[in-house]
Amino acid sequence: MDQAQPEIVFHTAALTDVDRCETEKDLACCINARGTKVLAEAARKMGAFLVYISTDYVFDGKQGLYKEEDAPNPINHYGHTKLLGEKYADCVARTCVIYGSKPASGKINFALWILENLHKGEEIRIVTDQYVSPTLTLTLPSCFWGRESGS
Ligand SMILES: NC(=O)c1ccc[n+]([C@@H]2O[C@H](COP(=O)([O-])OP(=O)(O)OC[C@H]3O[C@@H](n4cnc5c(N)ncnc54)[C@H](OP(=O)(O)O)[C@@H]3O)[C@@H](O)[C@H]2O)c1
Repeated sequence: MDQAQPEIVFHTAALTDVDRCETEKDLACCINARGTKVLAEAARKMGAFLVYISTDYVFDGKQGLYKEEDAPNPINHYGHTKLLGEKYADCVARTCVIYGSKPASGKINFALWILENLHKGEEIRIVTDQYVSPTLTLTLPSCFWGRESGS
C-alpha cells in the first residue's frame, strides 16, 4: 500500500475454503474480518477508497433473489466472517459463483470444471437443489460502476 499509493483498493483476499473456515475459525476471522480492518485502516490513512468483494453466503438462502437492503443472516463461519469484514469497506459487492476464462494462475472455476469434465466424457456429481446467480468475471465491475455507464 505504501509503495503503490492507490486511490482505490479492491480487496479480494480471503480464506474462501468454507469447510476450512469451520475447522479453523480463528484463522477465518483473522483473515476475513480483522485482515479487512487492517487494510481499511491503511486505505483510510492514504485516502484510498476500499472496495470489498463479499459473498451471497452472508444470507441464509431461505428467501432467494436477495437485494442489497435484505437483512443478512449467515449460517456458516465463512459467511459470518465475510459479513464482519463488510463493515470496514467503503463499497461492498456481494458476488456469487464467479466464472470466466481460465486465469494465468490456472485456478479453475465451477463453470470451467463442468466444461472440462464433460469434454472428457466424465460423469459429474453436483447438487440439484441449489439455485444461484453466477457472476461472469467481465460483468463483475458493473457491480461498482453501474450497468448503464458501460465503463
Ligand atoms: N469465487 C467465487 O465464486 C466467489 C463468490 C463470492 C465471493 N467471492 C469472494 O471473492 C474473493 C476472491 O475469491 P476467489 O474465489 O478468487 O478466492 P481464492 O481463489 O481462494 O483467492 C483468495 C486469495 O486470497 C489470498 N489470501 C488468503 N489469505 C491471505 C492472507 N492472509 N494474506 C494475503 N492474501 C491472502 C490467497 O492467497 P494464496 O493463494 O497465496 O493463498 C488467494 O490468492 C474473496 O473475497 C471471496 O470471498 C468469491
